[in-house]
Amino acid sequence: MRKKILIMGIETSCDETAVSIIQDNGQKPPKILANIISSQEEVHKKFGGVVPELAARSHLEKIELIAKKAIKISKVKLQDLDAISATAGPGLVVCLSVGFNFAKALALALKKPLIAVNHLEGHALSPMFESKLSYPYLLLLISGGHTQFLVVKGLGKYKRIGTTIDDAIGEAFDKTAKLLGFGFPGGPKIEKFSKKGNANKFDLPQPIINKGGCNLSFAGLKTAVLRYKILLKTKKDKYDLAASFQSTVLKIIYKKTKVAIKEYKKLAKGNSLVVAGGVAANKEIRKIINKVSLEENFKPYFPELNLCSDNAAMIAIAGLKKFKKNKFDRLDFSIKPRWSLDSKAKFLKGSGVKL
Ligand code: KG4
Ligand code: ZN
Repeated sequence: MRKKILIMGIETSCDETAVSIIQDNGQKPPKILANIISSQEEVHKKFGGVVPELAARSHLEKIELIAKKAIKISKVKLQDLDAISATAGPGLVVCLSVGFNFAKALALALKKPLIAVNHLEGHALSPMFESKLSYPYLLLLISGGHTQFLVVKGLGKYKRIGTTIDDAIGEAFDKTAKLLGFGFPGGPKIEKFSKKGNANKFDLPQPIINKGGCNLSFAGLKTAVLRYKILLKTKKDKYDLAASFQSTVLKIIYKKTKVAIKEYKKLAKGNSLVVAGGVAANKEIRKIINKVSLEENFKPYFPELNLCSDNAAMIAIAGLKKFKKNKFDRLDFSIKPRWSLDSKAKFLKGSGVKL
């Protein structure tokens, strides 16, 4: 019988300290034995965003405890692990350093291979715990720091066909929520309060909706919300603006995903559409993706809700895929605060994209 493979995943790229242990028996999909996430929401709430130094300090305080908890819950022995995988980028330097150095120390002490994982690859593979998704597929990656359409041809083989030219979609949700006084993180709050609002009350812009291929833009939306803010008198007005914001985002996603599908068809076969990242937890976004998929004859895939936001199970599954291909890293591997999935793609944020 084929040996079980046990992989530890470690994630500290931003404000979640997470450790997971997964097991692969050769059958699909791998099993999650432990998936511990310690969120720092309380630490950063009063600042309305993540404070890197505080985040790093909190990772340092918690990482060992979280790792011990994952080992205990999964009932495996440290020595039985086949490899230690950890997020090496992209993310906040001070935060990445904590988890990745912890992984290095563990790999060295246990004499096990170290696997450096791109956080975004973790998101890209996160639906694979649930379904028999196979390559190639179109990926819409929507998180707090990234908004991209990618053609995924295989492990480590990504072609970016669209990206945001300014703010990430999650950033737009968070900034809008902050302007409306809903608190941090804003995405879930906007989703919740939108249910109580009238989405047709405020007319918000859809920047570059008819140009720029499947590139996206969200900065103008936030500015428009700021402009309307002075008109808000009641709670209901705030809910109306939240609902109008979310429905505008949905229109942008609908249109741009259609364009991305067209682009995708020129480059790859297959009809799978994966939506991953923290914003993929939004149920209205899932509905709109289901609608586009139905219209375009694509099959949509989403990660389980608890695997949308940052977690270490997605890092472990990326580690597992690399392990199976003998893709290990040296102990002197340096973290990469900027690490694009498509190495040929240019960093566009704030620099303006050719439209
Ligand atoms: O993937 P993630 O946990 O962290 C990054 O890698 O960025 O994504 C976090 C982002 C935040 O901007 C958060 O507000 C957003 O995901 N988010 C949501 C929802 N849940 C989380 N945005 C919209 N609707 C939600 N339900
Ligand atoms: Zn993420």
